[in-house]
Amino acid sequence: MWNKIVEDCVSCFGNSRKYGWSKWKYTNNNSKLGLYVNIPFCEKKCFYCNFFSIKYDPILVDDYINALVKHARHFRGRKIGSIYFGGGTPSVLSLNQIQKLLQLLNNIFDLTSLYEFTFELNPESVSKEKLHLLKSLGVNRLSIGLQSTESESLKFLGRAHSFEKFCDIYNSARKEGFDNINIDLIYGLPNQIVEGWVGILEKVLLFDSEHLAIYPLSIEKDSLFYKNDVVIDDEIQRNMYDETVEILSSNNYFHYEISNWSKKNKESFHNIHYWRNLEYIGLGSGAAGYLNRIRYKNITDVKRYIRLVNGNSQRIKIERTYISEKLYGMESIILGLRLLNYGVDISYFSSPRLSGILLECLKNKMLLCQAGKVKLALDYVFVSSQILLKFME
Ligand SMILES: C[S@@+](CC[C@H](N)C(=O)[O-])C[C@H]1O[C@@H](n2cnc3c(N)ncnc32)[C@H](O)[C@@H]1O
Ligand code: SF4
Repeated sequence: MWNKIVEDCVSCFGNSRKYGWSKWKYTNNNSKLGLYVNIPFCEKKCFYCNFFSIKYDPILVDDYINALVKHARHFRGRKIGSIYFGGGTPSVLSLNQIQKLLQLLNNIFDLTSLYEFTFELNPESVSKEKLHLLKSLGVNRLSIGLQSTESESLKFLGRAHSFEKFCDIYNSARKEGFDNINIDLIYGLPNQIVEGWVGILEKVLLFDSEHLAIYPLSIEKDSLFYKNDVVIDDEIQRNMYDETVEILSSNNYFHYEISNWSKKNKESFHNIHYWRNLEYIGLGSGAAGYLNRIRYKNITDVKRYIRLVNGNSQRIKIERTYISEKLYGMESIILGLRLLNYGVDISYFSSPRLSGILLECLKNKMLLCQAGKVKLALDYVFVSSQILLKFME
């Protein structure tokens, strides 16, 4: 049976959704690591968010930066292919803090083959000076959290910025020469109708950003929305997703991951690195990393993280999982199926359990098999989490 699946899959080239990858200069091996730096500070907490973050405090952040740099020295000389500053809100750092942190990290890691350097921005904490500094320090990709163009929605979500402020910093970023910008959006708010969301999307298209990350609002445990019993409508979110797929494809955006669209060759290579199950360093409290076949997570509490780094303690890592061959195969399927164009090599499904699940999903037309790669069928992308779960043990 397995031989038959492989034979059909390898010989099927019909409608293969090929795009972009040939120009991917970023070599795909573990000689270059990803580097994720977590900045767990925000100006205020958004009502939907359950990511760990605390209020920005300049003195605590100074200590945090010293600890980050000390922690980074454990990885001195490692060759880095992509850097991602996320959070939290990296743009809350002051000019001095950004300069100090980026310059010190530059001295610690081997950045000679750095391909992509992303810095997340929240409009309320960005200035022309910060944009200028980021550009001068080698940041070549910005990710801006807009979420909505409607002031009522921004207020409802608990965002600290206006649409006008976003326009201002977006235009300043373009003037500064940033030519690779992502915009984050959220759809499917209670009372939002499909036509309303389409209007927001059309407004966003006018910016002609290189990348869009678009998520359905989810009600996360511990968020204010969860406590307040905010309810979302799955059916409406599904309709909005379908509209989004259609509108973006007719505007030259390629749907390369479940929630991510980009212009040609402007995918987030740092995130692709994760989805291709390659290794990366996670720096900072709450950051996850994957190195030498061990997945780890650093302690979340910021003050304890600083204390432990300063005391040279091994207890910075609170979770450590050895990724066996079997686990690696399963993870590669679950992560790789997110990449809609690329898919997962058929060879990962060869065990009796995984080939059984694959066969069932091929029969139900949830998955497709083309040119030796297994991919999510387009109709099932919105409900992909249910399919990915099947492969977990
Ligand atoms: C954790 S935030 C960090 C980026 C930045 N601080 C910001 O707020 O834009 C990353 C993105 O995740 C998305 N996100 C976070 N929580 C979400 C939720 N409950 N539902 C949908 N999207 C969410 C938002 O689009 C957000 O921009
Ligand atoms: S969405 Fe971003 S700004 Fe808002 S609380 Fe979460 S991490 Fe902070």
